[in-house]
Amino acid sequence: MPDPKPSQKYLDTLLLYYEEEIMGEAYFRAVAHQYSEPDRTYKMELMAQVERHAANAVLPLLKKYGLEPRSDTELHSIGLEDLADAPSDWDTLIAGMQKSFPGYMPEFRALEQMAPEPDRMRLSFLTQHEVAAIAFLDLEAQKLESAGPMLDYLKASPGTNPGATGQP
Ligand SMILES: [Fe+2]
Repeated sequence: MPDPKPSQKYLDTLLLYYEEEIMGEAYFRAVAHQYSEPDRTYKMELMAQVERHAANAVLPLLKKYGLEPRSDTELHSIGLEDLADAPSDWDTLIAGMQKSFPGYMPEFRALEQMAPEPDRMRLSFLTQHEVAAIAFLDLEAQKLESAGPMLDYLKASPGTNPGATGQP
């Protein structure tokens, strides 16, 4: 049986969420450069990479539906508009994201639900980037070793389970 035609809402949301990850990439890279401590720069750079990795996972879906995202340059400049609101204090930055990020989970799950079955593996991988980020934030807030969830995510790809890559 052919897939039912995807709804316009699904296509619009897919495109928007892709674009928001690219905006996020620029945002986190810029935040990374606001810190002089190498460990903090490293962690925010990992966040930027996680955003790009998540976006890359859904890019084939955009291609499949002929959806044209705005250019990286344009999306990055939009992402940087939020930089002025980023707290300069590290603990405040982490706590703020720790509070807000779980609120995005239902939206990512809703996108999965809207999707035709064959698209869900990639969208589940998109959702997992938020799971990885939240796990990072929870560990970082406790001053524990925190980069692992993001490193695992970056090693994984759609169809593999981040955190179960079989690598140390
Ligand atoms: Fe994201």
